Amino acid sequence: MDSIKVTGGAELNGIIPISGAKNAALPLMIASLLTDETLTLSNVPRLRDVAQLMQILSNHGVDYSVNGKRTGQDDLAGQTLNLTAREIVDTTAPYELVSKMRASFWVVGPLIARMHEARVSLPGGCAIGTRPVDFFIQGLEALGADIEIEGGYVVVKAPGGLIGGRVEFPRVSVGATHTIMMAATLAKGETEIVNAAREPEVVDLARCLKAMGAKIEGEGTSTIRIQGVPRLHGAHHAVVPDRIETGTYAMAVAITGGDVLLQGARTDLLESALDTLRQTGAEITATDEGLKVYRNGNGIQPADVTTEPFPGFPTDLQAQFMALMTKAGGKSRITETIFENRFMHVQELARLGAQIAIDGRTATVEGVSTLRGAPVMATDLRASVSLVIAGLAAEGETTVSRVYHLDRGFERLEDKLTRCGAQIQRISG
Ligand code: UD1
Repeated sequence: MDSIKVTGGAELNGIIPISGAKNAALPLMIASLLTDETLTLSNVPRLRDVAQLMQILSNHGVDYSVNGKRTGQDDLAGQTLNLTAREIVDTTAPYELVSKMRASFWVVGPLIARMHEARVSLPGGCAIGTRPVDFFIQGLEALGADIEIEGGYVVVKAPGGLIGGRVEFPRVSVGATHTIMMAATLAKGETEIVNAAREPEVVDLARCLKAMGAKIEGEGTSTIRIQGVPRLHGAHHAVVPDRIETGTYAMAVAITGGDVLLQGARTDLLESALDTLRQTGAEITATDEGLKVYRNGNGIQPADVTTEPFPGFPTDLQAQFMALMTKAGGKSRITETIFENRFMHVQELARLGAQIAIDGRTATVEGVSTLRGAPVMATDLRASVSLVIAGLAAEGETTVSRVYHLDRGFERLEDKLTRCGAQIQRISG
Protein backbone atom coordinates (compact mmCIF):
# COMPACT_ATOMS: atom_id res chain seq x y z
CA MET A 1 0.00 0.00 0.00
CA ASP A 2 1.30 3.45 -0.93
CA SER A 3 2.11 6.06 1.67
CA ILE A 4 2.83 9.77 1.49
CA LYS A 5 5.86 11.38 3.06
CA VAL A 6 5.62 15.07 3.93
CA THR A 7 8.46 17.18 5.22
CA GLY A 8 6.87 20.15 6.89
CA GLY A 9 7.87 23.77 7.04
CA ALA A 10 7.63 24.99 3.44
CA GLU A 11 5.25 27.81 2.49
CA LEU A 12 2.88 27.20 -0.42
CA ASN A 13 3.22 29.60 -3.35
CA GLY A 14 1.90 29.25 -6.88
CA ILE A 15 -1.15 27.92 -8.70
CA ILE A 16 -3.29 24.90 -7.87
CA PRO A 17 -5.86 23.95 -10.53
CA ILE A 18 -9.14 22.84 -8.96
CA SER A 19 -10.61 19.63 -10.38
CA GLY A 20 -14.23 18.82 -11.11
CA ALA A 21 -16.15 17.80 -7.99
CA LYS A 22 -16.10 14.10 -7.16
CA ASN A 23 -19.43 14.45 -5.38
CA ALA A 24 -21.01 15.90 -8.52
CA ALA A 25 -19.28 13.59 -11.01
CA LEU A 26 -20.60 10.45 -9.31
CA PRO A 27 -24.35 11.25 -9.47
CA LEU A 28 -23.88 12.74 -12.97
CA MET A 29 -22.35 9.48 -14.18
CA ILE A 30 -25.22 7.57 -12.58
CA ALA A 31 -27.70 9.80 -14.45
CA SER A 32 -26.46 8.21 -17.70
CA LEU A 33 -28.59 5.17 -16.77
CA LEU A 34 -31.72 7.26 -17.39
CA THR A 35 -31.35 7.47 -21.17
CA ASP A 36 -30.38 5.24 -24.10
CA GLU A 37 -28.53 8.18 -25.65
CA THR A 38 -25.00 9.38 -24.86
CA LEU A 39 -24.30 11.61 -21.87
CA THR A 40 -20.98 13.42 -22.26
CA LEU A 41 -19.41 14.74 -19.07
CA SER A 42 -16.39 17.02 -19.17
CA ASN A 43 -14.17 18.17 -16.28
CA VAL A 44 -14.46 14.73 -14.64
CA PRO A 45 -11.71 14.23 -12.06
CA ARG A 46 -9.32 11.29 -12.38
CA LEU A 47 -10.11 9.46 -9.17
CA ARG A 48 -10.45 5.94 -7.88
CA ASP A 49 -14.14 6.46 -7.04
CA VAL A 50 -14.81 7.50 -10.65
CA ALA A 51 -13.07 4.38 -11.98
CA GLN A 52 -14.92 2.23 -9.47
CA LEU A 53 -18.27 3.67 -10.51
CA MET A 54 -17.42 3.05 -14.19
CA GLN A 55 -17.04 -0.60 -13.31
CA ILE A 56 -20.43 -0.65 -11.60
CA LEU A 57 -22.16 1.17 -14.47
CA SER A 58 -20.61 -1.06 -17.13
CA ASN A 59 -22.01 -4.03 -15.26
CA HIS A 60 -25.48 -2.57 -15.87
CA GLY A 61 -24.69 -2.22 -19.59
CA VAL A 62 -23.22 1.31 -19.85
CA ASP A 63 -20.64 1.68 -22.65
CA TYR A 64 -18.07 4.32 -21.98
CA SER A 65 -15.14 6.02 -23.62
CA VAL A 66 -12.67 8.62 -22.41
CA ASN A 67 -11.57 11.36 -24.81
CA GLY A 68 -7.82 11.56 -25.46
CA LYS A 69 -5.65 14.57 -24.73
CA ARG A 70 -6.38 17.72 -26.74
CA THR A 71 -4.08 20.52 -27.94
CA GLY A 72 -3.00 22.80 -25.12
CA GLN A 73 -4.36 20.54 -22.39
CA ASP A 74 -2.06 19.82 -19.46
CA ASP A 75 -1.96 16.70 -17.33
CA LEU A 76 -4.15 18.20 -14.65
CA ALA A 77 -7.06 19.00 -17.00
CA GLY A 78 -10.22 17.02 -16.26
CA GLN A 79 -11.23 14.13 -18.48
CA THR A 80 -14.24 13.90 -20.77
CA LEU A 81 -16.36 10.76 -20.43
CA ASN A 82 -18.98 9.57 -22.90
CA LEU A 83 -21.51 7.27 -21.25
CA THR A 84 -24.18 5.36 -23.17
CA ALA A 85 -26.71 3.07 -21.52
CA ARG A 86 -28.30 1.89 -24.79
CA GLU A 87 -29.65 -1.18 -23.04
CA ILE A 88 -29.72 -1.95 -19.33
CA VAL A 89 -28.69 -5.60 -19.24
CA ASP A 90 -28.66 -6.11 -15.48
CA THR A 91 -30.75 -4.37 -12.81
CA THR A 92 -28.73 -5.87 -9.94
CA ALA A 93 -25.93 -3.87 -8.33
CA PRO A 94 -23.95 -6.57 -6.51
CA TYR A 95 -22.47 -6.45 -3.03
CA GLU A 96 -18.86 -6.86 -4.27
CA LEU A 97 -19.16 -3.57 -6.18
CA VAL A 98 -21.55 -1.47 -4.06
CA SER A 99 -19.76 -2.26 -0.78
CA LYS A 100 -16.70 -0.33 -1.96
CA MET A 101 -18.49 3.00 -2.41
CA ARG A 102 -21.70 4.22 -0.81
CA ALA A 103 -22.66 6.49 -3.72
CA SER A 104 -23.07 3.49 -6.01
CA PHE A 105 -26.27 2.70 -4.08
CA TRP A 106 -27.78 5.70 -5.87
CA VAL A 107 -28.13 3.65 -9.09
CA VAL A 108 -31.35 2.43 -7.49
CA GLY A 109 -33.09 5.67 -8.60
CA PRO A 110 -32.43 5.51 -12.37
CA LEU A 111 -32.79 1.71 -12.49
CA ILE A 112 -36.26 1.66 -10.92
CA ALA A 113 -37.32 4.69 -13.00
CA ARG A 114 -36.26 3.25 -16.35
CA MET A 115 -36.52 -0.51 -15.81
CA HIS A 116 -39.28 -0.59 -13.16
CA GLU A 117 -37.16 -2.95 -11.05
CA ALA A 118 -33.85 -2.86 -9.24
CA ARG A 119 -31.92 -5.02 -6.82
CA VAL A 120 -29.16 -3.08 -5.13
CA SER A 121 -26.87 -4.20 -2.34
CA LEU A 122 -26.94 -2.20 0.87
CA PRO A 123 -23.92 0.14 0.69
CA GLY A 124 -20.45 0.39 2.22
CA GLY A 125 -18.09 3.36 1.90
CA CYS A 126 -16.20 5.47 4.44
CA ALA A 127 -16.58 4.27 8.02
CA ILE A 128 -17.82 7.62 9.31
CA GLY A 129 -21.10 6.55 10.86
CA THR A 130 -23.98 4.17 10.35
CA ARG A 131 -25.26 5.92 7.18
CA PRO A 132 -28.57 4.08 6.76
CA VAL A 133 -30.77 4.14 3.61
CA ASP A 134 -34.18 4.66 5.24
CA PHE A 135 -34.78 8.02 3.49
CA PHE A 136 -34.21 6.43 0.08
CA ILE A 137 -36.71 3.71 0.91
CA GLN A 138 -39.35 6.18 2.15
CA GLY A 139 -38.80 8.31 -0.94
CA LEU A 140 -39.12 5.47 -3.43
CA GLU A 141 -42.21 4.16 -1.61
CA ALA A 142 -43.78 7.63 -1.92
CA LEU A 143 -43.30 7.24 -5.69
CA GLY A 144 -45.26 3.99 -5.62
CA ALA A 145 -42.42 1.45 -5.46
CA ASP A 146 -42.69 -1.80 -3.48
CA ILE A 147 -39.57 -2.44 -1.44
CA GLU A 148 -38.23 -5.48 0.36
CA ILE A 149 -34.89 -6.13 1.98
CA GLU A 150 -33.65 -9.61 1.09
CA GLY A 151 -30.25 -11.02 1.99
CA GLY A 152 -28.52 -7.64 2.22
CA TYR A 153 -30.19 -6.35 -0.94
CA VAL A 154 -32.83 -3.68 -1.40
CA VAL A 155 -35.30 -5.13 -3.91
CA VAL A 156 -37.45 -2.45 -5.53
CA LYS A 157 -40.37 -3.06 -7.88
CA ALA A 158 -42.78 -0.72 -9.66
CA PRO A 159 -44.37 -2.89 -12.38
CA GLY A 160 -46.38 -0.07 -13.96
CA GLY A 161 -43.61 2.52 -13.50
CA LEU A 162 -43.17 5.13 -10.78
CA ILE A 163 -45.88 7.66 -10.02
CA GLY A 164 -45.03 11.19 -8.87
CA GLY A 165 -45.66 11.94 -5.19
CA ARG A 166 -44.67 14.06 -2.21
CA VAL A 167 -41.43 13.10 -0.50
CA GLU A 168 -40.52 14.82 2.74
CA PHE A 169 -37.13 13.90 4.15
CA PRO A 170 -36.83 13.86 7.98
CA ARG A 171 -33.40 15.47 7.62
CA VAL A 172 -31.31 16.70 4.75
CA SER A 173 -29.66 13.93 2.73
CA VAL A 174 -27.58 14.65 -0.34
CA GLY A 175 -27.70 11.09 -1.67
CA ALA A 176 -31.43 10.63 -1.09
CA THR A 177 -32.12 13.96 -2.84
CA HIS A 178 -30.01 12.93 -5.86
CA THR A 179 -31.68 9.54 -6.03
CA ILE A 180 -35.30 10.65 -5.72
CA MET A 181 -34.72 13.54 -8.13
CA MET A 182 -33.33 11.13 -10.74
CA ALA A 183 -36.12 8.62 -10.14
CA ALA A 184 -38.83 11.28 -10.44
CA THR A 185 -37.64 12.52 -13.86
CA LEU A 186 -39.26 9.47 -15.51
CA ALA A 187 -42.24 9.05 -13.12
CA LYS A 188 -45.80 9.81 -14.20
CA GLY A 189 -46.89 13.23 -12.92
CA GLU A 190 -45.37 15.61 -10.41
CA THR A 191 -43.01 14.89 -7.53
CA GLU A 192 -42.32 17.33 -4.75
CA ILE A 193 -39.20 16.84 -2.62
CA VAL A 194 -39.48 18.72 0.68
CA ASN A 195 -36.42 19.34 2.88
CA ALA A 196 -34.25 18.61 -0.15
CA ALA A 197 -30.48 19.02 0.01
CA ARG A 198 -29.36 22.42 -1.38
CA GLU A 199 -25.76 21.39 -2.04
CA PRO A 200 -24.13 22.71 -5.27
CA GLU A 201 -23.77 19.10 -6.42
CA VAL A 202 -27.58 18.70 -6.32
CA VAL A 203 -27.90 21.86 -8.41
CA ASP A 204 -25.29 20.51 -10.85
CA LEU A 205 -27.16 17.22 -11.22
CA ALA A 206 -30.46 19.09 -11.76
CA ARG A 207 -28.85 21.23 -14.47
CA CYS A 208 -27.57 18.15 -16.26
CA LEU A 209 -30.94 16.36 -15.97
CA LYS A 210 -32.63 19.46 -17.42
CA ALA A 211 -30.16 19.42 -20.33
CA MET A 212 -31.29 15.79 -20.82
CA GLY A 213 -34.92 16.93 -21.07
CA ALA A 214 -36.07 16.64 -17.44
CA LYS A 215 -38.50 19.19 -16.01
CA ILE A 216 -37.15 20.36 -12.65
CA GLU A 217 -37.70 23.51 -10.60
CA GLY A 218 -36.40 24.70 -7.25
CA GLU A 219 -32.95 23.05 -7.23
CA GLY A 220 -30.75 24.90 -4.74
CA THR A 221 -33.78 25.54 -2.48
CA SER A 222 -35.27 23.10 -0.01
CA THR A 223 -38.27 22.28 -2.21
CA ILE A 224 -37.65 20.68 -5.58
CA ARG A 225 -40.49 19.97 -8.03
CA ILE A 226 -40.10 17.49 -10.84
CA GLN A 227 -42.60 16.97 -13.62
CA GLY A 228 -42.07 13.46 -15.01
CA VAL A 229 -41.41 13.01 -18.75
CA PRO A 230 -41.65 9.78 -20.80
CA ARG A 231 -37.99 9.78 -21.80
CA LEU A 232 -34.71 11.65 -21.46
CA HIS A 233 -32.11 12.22 -24.17
CA GLY A 234 -28.35 12.70 -24.43
CA ALA A 235 -26.57 15.88 -23.33
CA HIS A 236 -23.19 17.47 -22.67
CA HIS A 237 -22.45 18.75 -19.19
CA ALA A 238 -19.32 20.13 -17.49
CA VAL A 239 -18.86 19.06 -13.85
CA VAL A 240 -18.89 21.91 -11.29
CA PRO A 241 -15.52 22.69 -9.57
CA ASP A 242 -14.79 20.80 -6.38
CA ARG A 243 -15.62 23.02 -3.39
CA ILE A 244 -14.15 20.53 -0.94
CA GLU A 245 -10.84 20.38 -2.80
CA THR A 246 -10.92 24.21 -2.91
CA GLY A 247 -11.49 24.48 0.85
CA THR A 248 -8.84 21.85 1.55
CA TYR A 249 -6.09 23.72 -0.32
CA ALA A 250 -7.24 27.04 1.15
CA MET A 251 -6.74 25.53 4.62
CA ALA A 252 -3.35 24.15 3.60
CA VAL A 253 -2.24 27.66 2.64
CA ALA A 254 -3.75 29.08 5.81
CA ILE A 255 -1.63 26.74 7.94
CA THR A 256 1.66 26.94 6.02
CA GLY A 257 1.56 30.57 4.96
CA GLY A 258 2.15 31.67 1.37
CA ASP A 259 0.15 32.87 -1.59
CA VAL A 260 -1.75 30.50 -3.87
CA LEU A 261 -4.25 30.89 -6.70
CA LEU A 262 -6.87 28.13 -6.63
CA GLN A 263 -7.53 28.17 -10.34
CA GLY A 264 -11.11 27.63 -11.43
CA ALA A 265 -12.46 27.71 -7.85
CA ARG A 266 -15.80 29.45 -7.22
CA THR A 267 -16.41 31.38 -3.99
CA ASP A 268 -20.20 31.00 -4.19
CA LEU A 269 -19.79 27.25 -3.60
CA LEU A 270 -18.22 27.63 -0.16
CA GLU A 271 -19.04 31.01 1.34
CA SER A 272 -19.44 29.69 4.85
CA ALA A 273 -16.06 27.92 4.94
CA LEU A 274 -14.33 30.95 3.41
CA ASP A 275 -15.90 33.28 6.00
CA THR A 276 -14.55 31.02 8.73
CA LEU A 277 -11.12 30.97 7.11
CA ARG A 278 -11.11 34.76 6.98
CA GLN A 279 -11.81 34.79 10.73
CA THR A 280 -8.66 32.73 11.21
CA GLY A 281 -6.64 35.41 9.45
CA ALA A 282 -6.36 34.15 5.88
CA GLU A 283 -6.93 36.69 3.13
CA ILE A 284 -9.19 35.37 0.41
CA THR A 285 -10.08 37.20 -2.78
CA ALA A 286 -12.13 36.11 -5.76
CA THR A 287 -10.47 36.86 -9.11
CA ASP A 288 -11.45 36.12 -12.72
CA GLU A 289 -9.23 33.08 -12.62
CA GLY A 290 -10.35 31.65 -9.30
CA LEU A 291 -9.61 32.30 -5.69
CA LYS A 292 -6.46 33.80 -4.18
CA VAL A 293 -5.52 32.66 -0.71
CA TYR A 294 -2.84 34.56 1.09
CA ARG A 295 -1.32 34.33 4.52
CA ASN A 296 1.44 36.59 5.64
CA GLY A 297 2.87 34.37 8.35
CA ASN A 298 1.08 36.09 11.23
CA GLY A 299 -0.53 33.77 13.75
CA ILE A 300 -3.66 31.73 13.10
CA GLN A 301 -6.73 32.96 15.01
CA PRO A 302 -9.01 30.34 16.57
CA ALA A 303 -12.60 30.08 15.28
CA ASP A 304 -15.55 27.85 16.23
CA VAL A 305 -17.50 25.88 13.64
CA THR A 306 -20.51 23.62 13.51
CA THR A 307 -20.99 21.43 10.45
CA GLU A 308 -24.33 21.82 8.71
CA PRO A 309 -25.97 21.01 5.40
CA PHE A 310 -25.28 23.56 2.64
CA PRO A 311 -25.00 26.55 2.87
CA GLY A 312 -23.49 25.85 6.31
CA PHE A 313 -19.94 24.73 7.04
CA PRO A 314 -19.46 21.37 5.24
CA THR A 315 -18.74 18.21 7.19
CA ASP A 316 -16.31 17.29 4.40
CA LEU A 317 -14.04 20.16 5.53
CA GLN A 318 -14.31 19.51 9.25
CA ALA A 319 -11.14 17.38 9.55
CA GLN A 320 -9.09 19.81 7.47
CA PHE A 321 -10.29 22.75 9.57
CA MET A 322 -9.38 20.87 12.73
CA ALA A 323 -5.86 20.39 11.35
CA LEU A 324 -5.63 24.16 10.88
CA MET A 325 -6.90 24.84 14.39
CA THR A 326 -4.22 22.61 15.94
CA LYS A 327 -1.82 25.51 15.35
CA ALA A 328 -4.16 28.38 16.24
CA GLY A 329 -3.27 30.84 18.98
CA GLY A 330 -6.03 29.73 21.35
CA LYS A 331 -8.98 27.40 21.81
CA SER A 332 -11.53 26.46 19.15
CA ARG A 333 -14.63 24.27 19.28
CA ILE A 334 -15.62 22.10 16.35
CA THR A 335 -19.05 20.47 16.43
CA GLU A 336 -19.99 17.71 13.98
CA THR A 337 -23.74 17.41 13.44
CA ILE A 338 -23.93 15.38 10.21
CA PHE A 339 -22.09 12.15 10.99
CA GLU A 340 -21.77 10.61 14.44
CA ASN A 341 -18.34 9.06 13.99
CA ARG A 342 -16.34 11.64 12.15
CA PHE A 343 -13.54 12.35 14.61
CA MET A 344 -11.24 9.49 13.69
CA HIS A 345 -8.54 11.93 12.64
CA VAL A 346 -8.30 13.25 16.22
CA GLN A 347 -6.09 10.49 17.56
CA GLU A 348 -3.84 10.70 14.50
CA LEU A 349 -3.50 14.49 14.81
CA ALA A 350 -2.62 13.91 18.46
CA ARG A 351 0.36 11.83 17.28
CA LEU A 352 1.74 15.04 15.76
CA GLY A 353 1.34 16.85 19.08
CA ALA A 354 -2.14 18.32 18.64
CA GLN A 355 -4.15 18.95 21.82
CA ILE A 356 -7.74 17.90 21.20
CA ALA A 357 -10.44 16.77 23.63
CA ILE A 358 -13.70 15.23 22.43
CA ASP A 359 -16.97 15.54 24.29
CA GLY A 360 -19.81 13.92 22.35
CA ARG A 361 -20.14 15.71 19.04
CA THR A 362 -17.78 18.55 19.95
CA ALA A 363 -14.01 18.61 19.75
CA THR A 364 -12.13 21.30 21.64
CA VAL A 365 -8.79 22.11 20.09
CA GLU A 366 -6.16 23.91 22.11
CA GLY A 367 -3.73 25.34 19.58
CA VAL A 368 -0.04 24.51 19.99
CA SER A 369 2.92 26.44 18.61
CA THR A 370 4.66 23.39 17.17
CA LEU A 371 3.52 20.14 15.60
CA ARG A 372 6.12 17.41 15.17
CA GLY A 373 6.15 14.91 12.30
CA ALA A 374 5.24 11.29 13.03
CA PRO A 375 3.91 8.21 11.24
CA VAL A 376 0.10 8.44 11.01
CA MET A 377 -2.64 6.43 9.37
CA ALA A 378 -5.38 7.64 7.02
CA THR A 379 -8.79 6.48 8.25
CA ASP A 380 -11.18 7.97 5.73
CA LEU A 381 -11.09 10.24 2.75
CA ARG A 382 -11.26 13.70 4.32
CA ALA A 383 -9.41 12.62 7.48
CA SER A 384 -6.46 11.53 5.33
CA VAL A 385 -6.04 14.93 3.79
CA SER A 386 -6.25 16.60 7.20
CA LEU A 387 -3.15 14.61 8.16
CA VAL A 388 -1.34 15.86 5.06
CA ILE A 389 -2.29 19.45 5.97
CA ALA A 390 -0.99 19.02 9.51
CA GLY A 391 2.16 17.35 8.12
CA LEU A 392 2.83 20.38 5.91
CA ALA A 393 3.01 22.53 9.03
CA ALA A 394 4.80 20.04 11.29
CA GLU A 395 8.52 20.03 12.03
CA GLY A 396 10.26 17.10 10.37
CA GLU A 397 8.77 14.17 8.56
CA THR A 398 5.20 12.86 8.60
CA THR A 399 4.36 9.62 6.83
CA VAL A 400 0.69 9.06 6.08
CA SER A 401 -0.06 5.41 5.39
CA ARG A 402 -3.14 3.86 3.75
CA VAL A 403 -3.38 6.69 1.25
CA TYR A 404 -5.76 4.74 -0.99
CA HIS A 405 -8.43 6.76 0.82
CA LEU A 406 -6.86 9.94 -0.58
CA ASP A 407 -6.85 8.58 -4.11
CA ARG A 408 -10.60 8.07 -3.88
CA GLY A 409 -11.19 11.80 -3.69
CA PHE A 410 -8.14 14.00 -4.35
CA GLU A 411 -6.72 14.14 -7.84
CA ARG A 412 -2.89 14.14 -7.89
CA LEU A 413 -2.64 15.75 -4.49
CA GLU A 414 1.13 15.41 -4.22
CA ASP A 415 1.68 16.84 -7.74
CA LYS A 416 -0.50 19.85 -7.02
CA LEU A 417 1.23 20.56 -3.71
CA THR A 418 4.75 19.94 -5.02
CA ARG A 419 4.20 22.53 -7.76
CA CYS A 420 3.62 25.06 -4.97
CA GLY A 421 6.78 24.23 -3.10
CA ALA A 422 5.64 21.54 -0.66
CA GLN A 423 8.00 18.73 0.11
CA ILE A 424 5.74 15.79 -0.39
CA GLN A 425 6.22 12.50 -2.15
CA ARG A 426 4.44 9.23 -2.67
CA ILE A 427 6.20 6.07 -1.62
CA SER A 428 4.98 2.98 -3.42
CA GLY A 429 4.53 0.10 -1.06
C1 UD1 B 1 -22.77 13.02 0.69
C2 UD1 B 1 -21.34 13.19 0.26
C3 UD1 B 1 -20.40 13.19 1.46
C4 UD1 B 1 -20.85 14.25 2.48
C5 UD1 B 1 -22.33 14.08 2.82
C6 UD1 B 1 -22.88 15.20 3.69
C7 UD1 B 1 -21.17 12.22 -1.95
C8 UD1 B 1 -20.64 11.15 -2.82
N1 UD1 B 1 -20.97 12.11 -0.63
O1 UD1 B 1 -22.86 11.75 1.33
O2 UD1 B 1 -19.08 13.47 1.00
O3 UD1 B 1 -20.10 14.10 3.67
O4 UD1 B 1 -23.13 14.06 1.60
O5 UD1 B 1 -22.67 16.42 3.07
O6 UD1 B 1 -21.76 13.17 -2.42
N2 UD1 B 1 -29.07 9.56 6.49
C9 UD1 B 1 -30.03 8.76 7.06
N3 UD1 B 1 -30.82 7.98 6.25
C10 UD1 B 1 -30.66 7.97 4.90
C11 UD1 B 1 -29.70 8.80 4.32
C12 UD1 B 1 -28.90 9.59 5.13
O7 UD1 B 1 -30.18 8.75 8.29
O8 UD1 B 1 -31.40 7.24 4.22
C13 UD1 B 1 -28.22 10.41 7.36
C14 UD1 B 1 -26.73 10.02 7.28
O9 UD1 B 1 -26.43 8.94 8.12
C15 UD1 B 1 -26.08 11.31 7.71
C16 UD1 B 1 -27.01 12.39 7.14
O10 UD1 B 1 -28.24 11.73 6.86
O11 UD1 B 1 -26.09 11.40 9.12
C17 UD1 B 1 -26.52 13.05 5.89
O12 UD1 B 1 -26.05 12.10 4.99
P1 UD1 B 1 -26.15 12.27 3.41
O13 UD1 B 1 -26.35 13.70 3.07
O14 UD1 B 1 -27.14 11.29 2.89
O15 UD1 B 1 -24.69 11.83 2.95
P2 UD1 B 1 -24.29 11.11 1.60
O16 UD1 B 1 -25.23 11.49 0.52
O17 UD1 B 1 -24.04 9.67 1.86
